[in-house]
Amino acid sequence: MSRGLILGIESSCDETAAAVVERGARTLSSVVASQISTHATYGGVVPELASREHLRAIVPVVREAMAEAQITFDDLDAVAVTSGPGLAGALLVGITYAKALAFARGLPLIAVNHLEGHIHAVLLEERQKRAVEVRSGLAGPLRQAQGRLSNSVAIATSARDDSLRGQGEDEPALALVVSGGHTHLYLARPRDGTWMYTLVGRTLDDAAGEAYDKVAKLLGLGYPGGPWIDALAAFGDPHAVPFSFAQIKPKVHLHGKAPRTKAAKTAPIANLDPHFLFSFSGIKTAVLRYVELHHMREEAQARIPRMLALGRPPKTREDALGLCPQATLDLIASFQHAVVGDLMKKTFAAAESLGAARILVTGGVAANRELRTRFTAEARERGLWIAFPTLALSTDNAAMIAAAAWPRFLAGEFAASALSADPSLALGG
Ligand code: KG4
Ligand code: ZN
Repeated sequence: MSRGLILGIESSCDETAAAVVERGARTLSSVVASQISTHATYGGVVPELASREHLRAIVPVVREAMAEAQITFDDLDAVAVTSGPGLAGALLVGITYAKALAFARGLPLIAVNHLEGHIHAVLLEERQKRAVEVRSGLAGPLRQAQGRLSNSVAIATSARDDSLRGQGEDEPALALVVSGGHTHLYLARPRDGTWMYTLVGRTLDDAAGEAYDKVAKLLGLGYPGGPWIDALAAFGDPHAVPFSFAQIKPKVHLHGKAPRTKAAKTAPIANLDPHFLFSFSGIKTAVLRYVELHHMREEAQARIPRMLALGRPPKTREDALGLCPQATLDLIASFQHAVVGDLMKKTFAAAESLGAARILVTGGVAANRELRTRFTAEARERGLWIAFPTLALSTDNAAMIAAAAWPRFLAGEFAASALSADPSLALGG
């Protein structure tokens, strides 16, 4: 009998990932091979190197995922793969492998939008958590505990609502997908077993994660910059530098002006409420100006090789602290405080305007501690339900791809054999 096993494959940027998920609800394995060390010396993802590394990693990563799940290819019901958005050459590696495997094994192939995958990272973990609660008969006590645990993945934020308002999957959710490539707000609605997405807001230029990475590079921190800024921000004064986000002019919205960078290319901005549009290139320039005005360039340059030698946070946070003067820590803290504040302001305004009681925050930047703390506090204040993926599922992985594929599998929505990479693939209308 079919177990509903889907092998997910993800290769859209700098992680080669494979995972086996049962019925979109139980992760049997999730393997991620990161290319961070390859790209760190360049301070950013080098597309050609990414493709080469994916080629190297794809076979061993899939083998490991199958072995960890303790299944063979015969047990699979379908193969799912990210078809976009992302780097063309990187996407092609995963797509080509998935197509070949599906063809050789006579399995259906399912194409998944990477952004939809990030949303399903949260939904998958919610289902897993509920299954554990039901199996262990702990549904009641666990729900109460969720409200108390500050580091829990999903938090019931309404004191007056014991039934976890918004936990049901049949209710719409506002999803903030905030990563290195995207800062998009979607209204996600379940319909007839699948999900419908409406684009509500997005960045006009850089993604939030991109701003983190660029500011970190400018300050001579390691790559990717998000985890470094996250680790160091706690030691600075978040109010030392008063960054402000300029009001996005209504005329930009009304004229449907073309987005300025690739990151924002996935959907037109006409018809979106300007209050839900983001822009992160301004704060990046403001940090650059601040660095120049305060003669911090040289100090930042000198930090680069020493930070590179450190490895990745959080283990090396104490060493990194020794390399950053207080003025730099204050700048880092102020930058993060401003970015998180702007993400919060627009996300909660959108939730209120759309009447959404559930908020999902997902993507690499959702791993950020200040973001989680402040979003959770604000949701609690407003009586809204909020969920984040665990840290492992915040950044790119393939479990989210296999989970997003499950409703499509049930609906028989399979990809044609001509499936190709779509670097600018949009989600929703
Ligand atoms: O989702 P992801 O792995 O890949 C994309 O789809 O882009 O996100 C990667 C991004 C990078 O920009 C990285 O700097 C950022 O997520 N990131 C963080 C944190 N961890 C990763 N940003 C802020 N705080 C973090 N803890
Ligand atoms: Zn991603």
